[in-house]
Amino acid sequence: MNEQSAQSRIAQLRSILGEDSVLTRPEDTAAFEVDQRRLYHGHALAVVSPRQVEEVAALVAWCVQHRIGLVTQGGNTGYCGGATPDESGLQLVLLMRRLNRVRSIDAANFSMTVEAGCVLANVQRAADMADRFFPLSLGAEGSCQIGGNLATNAGGVNVLRYGMARDLVLGLEAVLPDGSIWRGLKSLRKDNTGYDLKSLLIGSEGTLGVITAATLKLWPKIRSGATAMVAISTPADALALLGLLREHSGERLSSFELLPRVAIDLTLRYVSATHDPLGQSYPWYVLCELTSGTTENLNEQLQQTLALAMERSLVLDAALATSERVRLDFWRLRESVPEAQRHEGVSIKHDISVPVASVPDFIAEASLWVRQHVADGFLVCYGHAGDGNLHFNINRATDGENQAFLAREPVIKRAIHDLVARYHGSISAEHGIGRLKREELQRYASPVQLACMRAIKHALDPHGIMNPGKVL
Ligand code: FAD
Ligand code: MLT
Ligand code: ZN
Repeated sequence: MNEQSAQSRIAQLRSILGEDSVLTRPEDTAAFEVDQRRLYHGHALAVVSPRQVEEVAALVAWCVQHRIGLVTQGGNTGYCGGATPDESGLQLVLLMRRLNRVRSIDAANFSMTVEAGCVLANVQRAADMADRFFPLSLGAEGSCQIGGNLATNAGGVNVLRYGMARDLVLGLEAVLPDGSIWRGLKSLRKDNTGYDLKSLLIGSEGTLGVITAATLKLWPKIRSGATAMVAISTPADALALLGLLREHSGERLSSFELLPRVAIDLTLRYVSATHDPLGQSYPWYVLCELTSGTTENLNEQLQQTLALAMERSLVLDAALATSERVRLDFWRLRESVPEAQRHEGVSIKHDISVPVASVPDFIAEASLWVRQHVADGFLVCYGHAGDGNLHFNINRATDGENQAFLAREPVIKRAIHDLVARYHGSISAEHGIGRLKREELQRYASPVQLACMRAIKHALDPHGIMNPGKVL
């Protein structure tokens, strides 16, 4: 596109969305043209930020007419480059941040309707103020948006009890790739009226439509809880502890996070206000939490289970959170691992899942491979072990060299992902595909699945307007 037609397009956009909704100066657009890991640096025709769904619809219709690719961006906290435009200067970045109203809360129906640009922490707060609980929780909750969470089908630390983002949704409103608005904001618990469009849009990473609002499920507010940092010897002991906790506490077990000592060390080194949770260091830790919507003595329950686990030599040591401050300290240690890893230097990340019962064997086999083949790196394997989801990350060793280390990324990824496939696992447990894992998806998804996905994409978005070059 030459300069003259670019200017004419921008003038048209301004007439549709208003002068202040179309950013083009590099100092205004730069932050939206790069992903948070700084893996992808794009260049957009403009960055636009509409205020309401009708404006989004008009924008999409205009994009179809002019065959302009549209990259929807939420909080830009995603890990797969899904919200970053390509380098062509021809795509638009659509910011959702101005569609940020809580439209309604229906406490009696245990539901709330929010716009896609609401920051996740604000959604949680609004539910709390209505004496209800919205369970989606992840380290980026202060900046990611609910629209981005749904578009990526985010996971986080409460999946064990409440499920993934998809499981938390009753209805959706979205602008489809032809510019029509699908008003599907139902708040029904039961609704078998044909294909489930909301489930299709959730997890589609902006490739099938723009999510503009959602009706979310709420739960009773948490009235009691118990949190412990537990030291263990091996991932196999973690698995046995998980079984014991589920047997004794059932649905009350909401989080079960696995941390190796190296993750604690990195966090203590780089992140302020973090404390070693136990008197000495241990090979592995589990951060577990019980919660309930009624008043119960969960501390006692957790203590009893941990005592039994100690008798069975599954647990080496444990600290129960004796106050909300200690509880937050434990969670700070866990949630700061990605930040600490970033401070340590470059890393090669894998967001994988295997059947929960296979977690110990997978860790053993994959760790051995890393020890044997990645002399210039060290493993930081942690995550949502209760869901079988591990962040199997490898940091460059201090004396290693960035370029040489990163040059081996394709080989390392191939070995780890092949192993995941052998364990009947997934190469993307919760972060999505975006641009980063497009080729991996081609390799590991079945031809039938890929053909089906392509057919759906073509049927809904025949001109390839929605987030071109992502996922497929
Ligand atoms: P973005 O990064 O802006 O976009 C992500 C994708 O969604 C892109 O493809 C984009 O085009 C699309 N998209 C965004 N908004 C919309 C919309 N309204 N309609 C259609 N498409 C849209 N993820 C987890 O699952 N679990 C975790 O535990 C977790 N922890 C994290 C911790 C940290 C410290 C960080 C930095 C990230 C973490 N993430 C985690 C990854 C990330 O926060 C999630 O993927 C999150 O859901 C992305 O939301 P976002 O608003 O930032 O989306
Ligand atoms: C987490 O669980 O901490 C994230 O999903 C992983 C990451 O940020 O690398
Ligand atoms: Zn995670």
